[in-house]
Amino acid sequence: MEEEGARLVKEPSRRRAGLAVVTGASSGIGAALAPRLAADGYDLLLVARREERLRELAERVREAHGVQARCLALDVTEEDALERLLEAAPEPAVLVNNAGAGRFGPAVEASPAEQARIVRLNCESLTRLTLGYLPGMVSRGRGVVVQMASIAGFQPVPYFAVYAATKAYVLSFSEALDKELEGSGVRVVSVCPGPVPTEFQAAAGSGDAAKEPAYNRRTPEQIAEATARAIARPRPVVTAAPYHGFLRFAQRFLPRRTVLSVAARKMRQRGI
Ligand SMILES: NC(=O)c1ccc[n+]([C@@H]2O[C@H](COP(=O)([O-])OP(=O)(O)OC[C@H]3O[C@@H](n4cnc5c(N)ncnc54)[C@H](OP(=O)(O)O)[C@@H]3O)[C@@H](O)[C@H]2O)c1
Repeated sequence: MEEEGARLVKEPSRRRAGLAVVTGASSGIGAALAPRLAADGYDLLLVARREERLRELAERVREAHGVQARCLALDVTEEDALERLLEAAPEPAVLVNNAGAGRFGPAVEASPAEQARIVRLNCESLTRLTLGYLPGMVSRGRGVVVQMASIAGFQPVPYFAVYAATKAYVLSFSEALDKELEGSGVRVVSVCPGPVPTEFQAAAGSGDAAKEPAYNRRTPEQIAEATARAIARPRPVVTAAPYHGFLRFAQRFLPRRTVLSVAARKMRQRGI
């Protein structure tokens, strides 16, 4: 009875913001984003391959925020991923293309098949999902697509060459789209984190992001906060730390060879 009463108090005060689809919600930034978007009143469709984790997260978010939270166990690189997503969430207010992966190390030692899978995930499936959802958003005159990019997309990064190139693609593609969509009511925003301690580093074979200096490191919750703000504000590219805003600005004015040398030195310092 008491529980029923508590639910009745919570429900009417909740602002309904629409549905947000979040890919890569089973860990790291995506898992932090789910409760943050729910706090803004979004219902959620949580997407990733590890279903059990999604279910636990959905349960927690429903209990804490009183929103609807559904799960879809899906590999977004599968041929039919867009169709399955459109079926589960035909008219979302927000699509967050957050699923992504990388692999540190010298390119000559890299597995061509693994690097191709990274390109497929970070670029091809992001493109397919974005272009699949945009026409509906434009016809409804509202919607936001969030691309989880990276500061690695600001310049080439030796020893992280393919990953940085995929994120440069994401930035270029998304900024161009956002310009094309001016006046349509639909926006495309790229969020550019620097090092964030998540499962990403272990999967990528990189160093421990928690050891980065505080000015260069952010938590998944801080990136989730920056992302939630980016959804509300009309800026096509968002960084979550002042230092990263400075890096983005500075690399435009420095000679490319200097930018490359600095990036290579920083990567070697990480023991790569
Ligand atoms: N952590 C950082 O330092 C950092 C910095 C800059 C940018 N980013 C970007 O932030 C995004 C999130 O990364 P994170 O740090 O949160 O890493 P993470 O903890 O490893 O999370 C990656 C997420 O992507 C999902 N995913 C991977 N492959 C998938 C696939 N084929 N289909 C569906 N889902 C898939 C994973 O779930 P399943 O394994 O369950 O499928 C997981 O939920 C990525 O785009 C990454 O490039 C991260």
